[in-house]
Amino acid sequence: MAKRAGITITQHLLSQQRENPEATGAFTILLNELIVAAKIISKEVNKAGLADILGATGEINVQEEQVQKLDVYANRLIIERMQHIGQLCCMGSEEIADLIDIPNKYPKGNYILLFDPLDGSSNIDVNISIGTIFGIFRKVSDHTDINFLLSDALQQGYKQVAAGYFLYGSSTMMVYTAGNGVHGFTLYPSVGEFLLSHENIRIPEKGKIYSVNESNYQYWDDKTKALVDYFKTKDKETGRPYTSRYVGSLVADFHRNLLKGGIFMYPADMKDPKKPHGKLRLMVEANPLAMVVQQAGGYASDGNGPILQLQPNELHQRVPLYIGSKKDVEIAEEFISGKRG
Ligand code: AHG
Ligand code: MN
Ligand code: MN
Repeated sequence: MAKRAGITITQHLLSQQRENPEATGAFTILLNELIVAAKIISKEVNKAGLADILGATGEINVQEEQVQKLDVYANRLIIERMQHIGQLCCMGSEEIADLIDIPNKYPKGNYILLFDPLDGSSNIDVNISIGTIFGIFRKVSDHTDINFLLSDALQQGYKQVAAGYFLYGSSTMMVYTAGNGVHGFTLYPSVGEFLLSHENIRIPEKGKIYSVNESNYQYWDDKTKALVDYFKTKDKETGRPYTSRYVGSLVADFHRNLLKGGIFMYPADMKDPKKPHGKLRLMVEANPLAMVVQQAGGYASDGNGPILQLQPNELHQRVPLYIGSKKDVEIAEEFISGKRG
């Protein structure tokens, strides 16, 4: 058990703040408020079956996907809680087409919060783990007459100052990095505190698990098919075939592979010609998890190079994602870039 097991997330944030001389406490305030939002979402998720919060709203979101009531609830809750703390110049949500202003009546800050309020929506009403993913950038524009520019949000992933996720599963966990390793906290429900349970998480260099939605096989190109076939082919020396595990919630699949090792793949596919780069979003899913996995010793690629180096050109752009144990993701890159066939 970690030497500081059981310390609260607030104590952990304050100790990280003390280690960082130019820290102003703004980041601690920001993360603390996001934690309050996550605790409220967790409570709603845990009683979802009882409240009229299940099911679809009948609306289609900016991603042209069925909006679930809990998506809407989580999205509104995060926006309402985060907009008044005076630490953000704007926010970007998977559920909202454009960047979200901070209302004039609230003070502005120098951070940008990008988030997927509820990840794994298709699993909400079947009691399978879902989550919230977040990434935080520091504002780069310095115009006195406007609060922010789109370019403040469209930064390369390696410039994130922090990233992480909440996982509403058999227990509620928060996993985050601020550039000093990856740390996991488990919510102690009766106390309402996130307590340190996984200090300095390191992902195994090579795993034995591959996660991919194989029903898309017919829509993949030959390199992608060859890659997935590779993980399924028997070869004692390289520990293959790998075990297949796919929950359908990115946060849950990612978290399991982070702890046990393995690779999660959402390749480009031709299922929907409007989405040739696959389903997952660079800014609110791939970038945050790429920072977490890199800080844990793993790697995240779009098949040709590091996710964290990609220069975003729009808020909701999608990207093929290969993420997890470094050696496994490097193999994926060899297949997708054509170096190995
Ligand atoms: P979201 O609920 O935020 O739209 O994300 C769902 C994503 C991700 O969680 C998961 O890995 C993927 O959708 C599953 O997609 P398929 O059902 O196409 O496999
Ligand atoms: Mn998602
Ligand atoms: Mn979502």
